[in-house]
Formats: sequence, structure tokens, C-alpha cells
Amino acid sequence: MGSIATSGHAVDLAKLEPVFDKYKDMANGSLIPVLQGAQDAYGFLPIAALQAIAKRLNVPISQIYGVVTFYAQFRLVPRGKHVIRSCQGTACHVRNSARILESLKTVLGVAPGDTTEDLKFTLETVACIGCCSLAPVMMIDTDAHGRLRPDRVPKILDSYSN
Ligand code: FES
Repeated sequence: MGSIATSGHAVDLAKLEPVFDKYKDMANGSLIPVLQGAQDAYGFLPIAALQAIAKRLNVPISQIYGVVTFYAQFRLVPRGKHVIRSCQGTACHVRNSARILESLKTVLGVAPGDTTEDLKFTLETVACIGCCSLAPVMMIDTDAHGRLRPDRVPKILDSYSN
């Protein structure tokens, strides 16, 4: 197998052992449950873990990449402790949600789809989160913040920064 660049921090592969143990009797079809277990253990799927899974299950790494890129549930990059969903649906759009998003990008220093370096926040955009009467809206985890103004964004983020 060729070398695959590993990014970031060292990966504690011991975390995979309980996952392998749990599914060891499944002759076939254990790949997806093992990947789910690995993602639960790490919060995402580090490359080193995928390589270890390929080796242990005797599955080509190319097949594993095929699976993790096909299913939206799998993540190859870490997620922040808090996930921000900035609504860009129609009702929010006409109420200047683009300016809210700009403010989020400036304060966090990341683009949609990215996570801050301290792993505190992941920024995403969504199309309508079902509370259009509060437009423009963003969700942080399960909290809806409505009737937003760009200048309120830093203070709201501050309240999640512990
Ligand atoms: S369009 Fe933003 S909540 Fe519906």
C-alpha cells in the first residue's frame, strides 16, 4: 500500500479495539458498523484509523474511501464542539442572511464547511430551518437564534466559547 498523508494529531488506534471486538463475529458486512463505531470514538474518521480498519478487515483502502465518501453520515475532518448552521433559505435571504454569514466568517475565521482551529465551532449553511418568522436565523447546536443582526454575532458566539 502506498503511503497516505496523515494530517494533524496522532491518532490513538487503541480506541478501535473495542469496535473491532464488537463486530468480530460478523464475517461480511461489518465495514459500515465498524466505520460508525470508529466515528463515534474519534468524532470523525482519521486517515490512520481508516488504514487500520482496511488492514484489520482485509478490505482495500480504496473501497473504504468509496464508502465514506458515499454516505453523508461519515466525516473525514473533525467537527467543532458547537455546530453553527447559518440559514440561507429564501425568507432569511431577503432579510440579509448573507451579512450574518459574513459576520460569522469574519469572527470565526473559517468558511462554511470548515472548523475553527481550536475545534470549538464548525460553520455550515442550510436552506431553511423551519423558523422563517424569526428570519434571519442561525442554529447553534439545538438553539435557534433569530432576528439576527451582524453586530450581535460576536456576543452570541462568546456565550458558547467555554
Ligand atoms: S428560510 Fe431561514 S428559517 Fe426558513
